[in-house]
Amino acid sequence: MDAIVVLDFGSQYAQLIARRVREANVYCGLFPHDAPSSEVMALDPKGFILSGGPASVYEQGAPQIPSYILQSDLPILGICYGMQALTHALGGEVAPATEREYGPATIDITKETSILPAGSRAVWMSHGDRIDATPPGFEVLAQSNNSPIAAMGDLARRRFGLQFHPEVRHTQGGADILRAFAVDICGAEQTWNPSSIIDSSISKIREQVADRQVVAGVSGGVDSTVAAALVHRAVGDQLTCIFVNTGLLRAGEPAQVVEVFKETLGARLKAIDATEVFFDVLKGVTDPEAKRARIGAAFIRVFEGQAREFGDAPHLVQGTIYPDVVESSGPDRQQAARIKSHHNVGGLPEELSFRLVEPLRYLFKDEVRRVGLALGLPEELIWRQPFPGPGLAVRCLGDVSLDRVQRLRLADKIVTEELERANALQRGPAGTDPPGVAQAFAVLLPVRTVGVMGDQRTYAEVVAVRAVQSEDGMTADWARLPAELLRTISSRIVNEVEGVNRVVYDITSKPPSTIEWE
Ligand code: XMP
Repeated sequence: MDAIVVLDFGSQYAQLIARRVREANVYCGLFPHDAPSSEVMALDPKGFILSGGPASVYEQGAPQIPSYILQSDLPILGICYGMQALTHALGGEVAPATEREYGPATIDITKETSILPAGSRAVWMSHGDRIDATPPGFEVLAQSNNSPIAAMGDLARRRFGLQFHPEVRHTQGGADILRAFAVDICGAEQTWNPSSIIDSSISKIREQVADRQVVAGVSGGVDSTVAAALVHRAVGDQLTCIFVNTGLLRAGEPAQVVEVFKETLGARLKAIDATEVFFDVLKGVTDPEAKRARIGAAFIRVFEGQAREFGDAPHLVQGTIYPDVVESSGPDRQQAARIKSHHNVGGLPEELSFRLVEPLRYLFKDEVRRVGLALGLPEELIWRQPFPGPGLAVRCLGDVSLDRVQRLRLADKIVTEELERANALQRGPAGTDPPGVAQAFAVLLPVRTVGVMGDQRTYAEVVAVRAVQSEDGMTADWARLPAELLRTISSRIVNEVEGVNRVVYDITSKPPSTIEWE
């Protein structure tokens, strides 16, 4: 399959560039700028895109364009820092900016090409340095008020530079620029789509698994479900799905998992009700990290017990997706400070010896969803809200008892029902306008407050409602839900959930808060 390669010079937008190219149905691989050339060239790319980055080309240690890229005859598109590095490497002049240009700008196209059709357009700028002189062979293609050289190209050698960011939505027609580079300039075939992804995954899985047994831990999450569905499509009954019900799932979820795997997919499913095990290990535990650690350990124990039946080292399906892969291989990516440990129920128990089957290893989340839909999985599962692996335990602050989790589950169901009724939940890709609510849920607080119900004094627990808008979970803002909707949620919770007499709404963004309370 034809491919384009993005080399990442430390841009916050590098993944976005790759996603835009793939949206044009061209496969795109993302590598750190200093990845070994053998790895990059193994894709047999049709062209290279050099991302932006925080460095300045004249700084000591500034990342340079690897020589194998400059020596190849393949087309190159440098974006922002990528353009400056290209200019520097090819003998043009890059000047330290006297002022940064950040935000919206308008460019005028001074020479029409297939990647930049004539006219003027709004673009998104974010750069310090600028180009003062193009390298030999290049001509100016566009200018803006602050950047006399906003775009440049050496049409004969098919090398281009853009000072602005075509990958962000604020750049008008930005996706078309990337499509034109991949398709018109590089000549890449547009064959990357859900059905070709499914076909090639199936043949890879069959080759890897041959006639051996495979197990998959399924939790109802999008990634683990799509991964298992792909493997089932490939090897049928050689796959056994193992569903460990922790007793910490949301209302209706265990039944949905069973229905999807049994009815929709017709897969072999072992459903284990391990509620007691999990509530036992959580008894008396209130510290959030201790809860996560105990749940992770208990999950491994239960899962291992089930998987042992399949011999010593069976194949294990893992829902690793492309961002997990590129984020753990980046050049300058320090481990971010650990805020919360993420134990993903359904994830790999590390100390077990499994051979991994990772059918989503090269897919972005939006591609996983499209593949899931193409495999016939239900929409409500595909657009399911993110849900922490440790489940309701980290939303049940304080003691995690059966009673309290049941109370929380009911309150949470009311929140979801009312947001669905108001059509406020996001269903569709992030970034749609106006943004929907990415996550909405209830949190049970470990405090009691005084209330009055029917002339009686009550002393009962508090539910906090959390609803956020977020593109990726890294940052979030609290959703401005209509007051009437909040009123309905509040009165339903207080009336229908025994033991709760007060509802509060969380109005903090992330940062400084996190989305989950624990
Ligand atoms: P925080 O609370 O850190 O959450 O702002 C960011 C996003 O991650 C989800 N989350 C988890 N997801 N395992 C997961 O797979 C976990 O342990 C976990 N904890 C939080 C959270 O719902 C939000 O979408």
